[in-house]
Amino acid sequence: MHDDIANILVSEEQIEVRVKELGVKILERGNENIVMVILLKGALVFAADLFRAMPVKLEIECLNVSSYHGGMESSGKVEFLDQCLPDFTGKRVVVVDDIFDTGLTMQEVCREISSRGAQSVESCVLLEKEGCRTVEMKPDYVGYVIGNEFVVGYGLDYAGRYRNLPYVGVLRPEAV
Ligand code: IMP
Ligand code: MG
Repeated sequence: MHDDIANILVSEEQIEVRVKELGVKILERGNENIVMVILLKGALVFAADLFRAMPVKLEIECLNVSSYHGGMESSGKVEFLDQCLPDFTGKRVVVVDDIFDTGLTMQEVCREISSRGAQSVESCVLLEKEGCRTVEMKPDYVGYVIGNEFVVGYGLDYAGRYRNLPYVGVLRPEAV
């Protein structure tokens, strides 16, 4: 698996430091009624580390959304794959995703959660792709800003694979 990586963009050590900082930042705005929402599957790995850097009584929900369908470019449509969505009434919701690319996924998810009575909705991503945003909203918490490259690892996949890499890297062209 490691042989397929051309270069590492964000190392394990960098991720560890930054994820802890993000946990602190989220709690600086308050620690009551927090519901952390994991966007599956990309945010799984990031979320697991982030939540353990937040020593308060928070709740966790998962949402299954799809926009890439396994390829390397956004389909431009966000699908909610869950049968039913949780009730967010009166909660401070923080949506966690792996990467903010066009921003469409995050915008649609935040809009949906707002419409379900959340008191507030914030967004937290490990990565933001510079210059790719096509929506108004900006993420509230960002780990690292990267260039416009397709990346894998630490939850991010290519065709369902590489999510278990402990760092974020770029695939060798031969691996694609
Ligand atoms: P957006 O809706 O365009 O912001 O895309 C966000 C979603 O696309 C993320 O949740 C990721 O699952 C996926 N995505 C965007 N860029 C990459 C990438 O470089 N590698 C893997 N998945 C990506
Ligand atoms: Mg995703």
